[in-house]
Amino acid sequence: MSLFICPICQSSLLLAADTWRCDGRLNLKNTSHPFDVARQGYTNLLPVNQKKSKAPGDSSDSILARQRFLANAHYQPLRDLVCAQIKALLSAKHSTGQIDKSSVNWLDIGCGEGYYTGAIAQIKGIDSLIAADISKPAVIEVAKASKAAKRLWQNVDKQDNNKAAIYPIVTSAAHLPLSTNSLTGITSIFSPILPAAFVDVLQEGGYLVIAKPDIRHLASVREALFDEVREHNSDKFLTELAPFFEVLETHKVNTELSLSEQALADLLTMTPYAYRARPEKRQALLAKAAVGTFNTEAKFVVYILKKRLL
Ligand SMILES: C[S@@+](CC[C@H](N)C(=O)[O-])C[C@H]1O[C@@H](n2cnc3c(N)ncnc32)[C@H](O)[C@@H]1O
Ligand SMILES: [Zn+2]
Repeated sequence: MSLFICPICQSSLLLAADTWRCDGRLNLKNTSHPFDVARQGYTNLLPVNQKKSKAPGDSSDSILARQRFLANAHYQPLRDLVCAQIKALLSAKHSTGQIDKSSVNWLDIGCGEGYYTGAIAQIKGIDSLIAADISKPAVIEVAKASKAAKRLWQNVDKQDNNKAAIYPIVTSAAHLPLSTNSLTGITSIFSPILPAAFVDVLQEGGYLVIAKPDIRHLASVREALFDEVREHNSDKFLTELAPFFEVLETHKVNTELSLSEQALADLLTMTPYAYRARPEKRQALLAKAAVGTFNTEAKFVVYILKKRLL
């Protein structure tokens, strides 16, 4: 069984440099569905009927703002924590012999422009890393960065066991074009959490690593933007995951940020605050950063879950 399946008929996808093509075995007419590989190296596996809008997911503006913001290492402590946790999970699996000769496949769902994906790709022991997002501009950025790092599936050195091959794909998290039980783990970093879809593609004992903003995340930014700041750190997703996953660990990480006007503007563009705040409040906040830096604290929580024996 191949790792990727056709988003239309669920038959195995055969990967070639310019087209991914299903073998059509699972549709009545045995029709083979082709998916072109874009020149940047990503594949669009989102059928038109799963596209709920013309350009689903994060816009190009918000992707580029996030890319600029993250390039300044503001969220590096979170990235380091996520990678350290994945490393520990994989080495525990190795030492108990749970990883044998089969490949280690990891999915970064809602990967955005790939800030976390690029770091995950450097973890020894991951063979295939699927960088998936519903936003085409996001996946284009991941493909470009993966190519530059020589980790794109088309040009990675297959003999080099330390190198994960990155497969950038456009897809909806709700309809993952991946085989049942094919994944060792999934990361969802500030991204959608779809219990049924995740549980299907994860192997038994597979991992789910979730990062979310913690209570009081960017509190001083929100206080400046809104008259009333409501904390909605809902644990509802944990209740929804509970039948399928056990929580192994929870970690918190906080980081002080001292932001320039540009960094603050980028932060506002990459978060939902930008369009919820009144324009005059937003302008007043940016004016504060223009005459010095604006200080705030980013607060994150990372959940490590494991798929139950079902
Ligand atoms: C807040 S961003 C996080 C991006 C990245 N993980 C990061 O932290 O930098 C959420 C991402 O999820 C994507 N997304 C939203 N809904 C999605 C869906 N149904 N399926 C796949 N991706 C989705 C968005 O396009 C966006 O890139
Ligand atoms: Zn097909």
